[in-house]
Amino acid sequence: MAGPEPPSVAPLSLAESATDTASKAHEQEINPWDVQAATDEQGNTLAFDYAAISAKWNTSLINSTLLERFERVTGRKPHRWLRRGLFFSHRDLDRILDIYERGETFLLYTGRGPSSGSMHIGHAIPFEFTKYMQDVFDVPLVIMLTDDEKFLFKEKLTQPEVYQFARDNAKDIISIGFDVKKTFIYIDSEFFTSGYNRHFSLNATEFEKLITNNQVRGAFGFDGSTNVGSNAFAAKQCVAAFASSYPFIFGEQCTSYHRSKKLAAMACLIPCAIDQDPYFRLVRENCSRMDQPSPKPALIHSKFLTSLQGAGGKMSASNPNSAIYLSDTEKQIKNKINKHAFSGGQETLELHRELGGNPDIDVAFQYLSYFEDDDDKLATFAEQYRKGVMLTGDMKKECVGMMTAYVQGFQAARVKVTEEILEEFMRPRKLEWRGNPNPTKK
Ligand code: TYM
Repeated sequence: MAGPEPPSVAPLSLAESATDTASKAHEQEINPWDVQAATDEQGNTLAFDYAAISAKWNTSLINSTLLERFERVTGRKPHRWLRRGLFFSHRDLDRILDIYERGETFLLYTGRGPSSGSMHIGHAIPFEFTKYMQDVFDVPLVIMLTDDEKFLFKEKLTQPEVYQFARDNAKDIISIGFDVKKTFIYIDSEFFTSGYNRHFSLNATEFEKLITNNQVRGAFGFDGSTNVGSNAFAAKQCVAAFASSYPFIFGEQCTSYHRSKKLAAMACLIPCAIDQDPYFRLVRENCSRMDQPSPKPALIHSKFLTSLQGAGGKMSASNPNSAIYLSDTEKQIKNKINKHAFSGGQETLELHRELGGNPDIDVAFQYLSYFEDDDDKLATFAEQYRKGVMLTGDMKKECVGMMTAYVQGFQAARVKVTEEILEEFMRPRKLEWRGNPNPTKK
């Protein structure tokens, strides 16, 4: 178990050591708006140090004992991303297993900040994983699309643009296969102006009163010149983790002033990449101070799927060759991987045959390790690559095949998502779920 969480006023940057002006080295920076890997003294980008960020933020690393218990309690084989350590860290996942074992319901919650019309494959990771968790636990799920956040934080984006991105991204998310009966998707600007947000809004206002400017500045690195909306936004992403914000999902009244005590007491599990953790540290620190206290939301954190340029690289909308987009054509995927995916192979064929390659830094292999489900096949690729039997071209070919199949499968589902289907996912309504069919009530 991890120790107590550091207060959210602890600076986010891992760059706490004195800056050496002669050196180009800087330490990694991970926060919800800026994810940068460390560089060495020559300015070379290094891989993210996930153990360091977990230690810094006092999260618990996912270990084999927890995974064994996960399998025992749910009767399901852990997802390949759990088996391979790609979802590597958590807060209170063991408590969620206790709750599931007792046959109690918890809320599953995740989200997306719609900053572009199409999501890239990195963004698909938490949603694919959330879909798996929805299948495993059979619980209600809320997906928050923060068009307000993106408008506030991205200078160049207008409100109509972010709203349209949110609708397009919602269709992307639906294409991943969520069950409409158990899933409520909402766009902030729409939900907050509907008649269903009264309890969300009361929770947000109460939370805004509990946290100070200093706490928000400390958690997110804001200063006096940060716009007021950005300071206030944090409360919204935080209270979205309270089941009491969505009484209609549970068939409860949402017009009365009083929020449901029972719902306030419901646990929540949030799958996301580690960059979103600062928001949820803030809610974990303050949820017990609410008038109707809520338990600390549990989290399960993933690593970042690397950009095509390799370890520590960032997928960025401003560089289309940094990422594979869910809207890319077969030709674009092939070109991007063949031309831009960093290779862990040797410079010449002779050297590669002699010395072998390094799959650990090979982007094609990294992508395969996310999308190839067959553990043995993946292990064989790694072994053959290290031995120099498998070449960079071979690995890239496997990767092109795998990514094309994934993106085409996604696109085939995406064309079927009509406006009507989108509206149904976004309609505030009572959800239906089963929960644990074999609880061991204690
Ligand atoms: P956003 O849009 O930046 O990211 C959406 C989700 O994708 C994760 N992510 C990645 N995961 C793996 N590899 C990558 N390369 C990669 N890039 C991004 C993010 O961690 C996130 O889980 N403020 C949020 C929206 C939000 C939210 C939430 C996210 C609202 N409520 C609850 C997670 C959970 C945002 O802008 O996400």
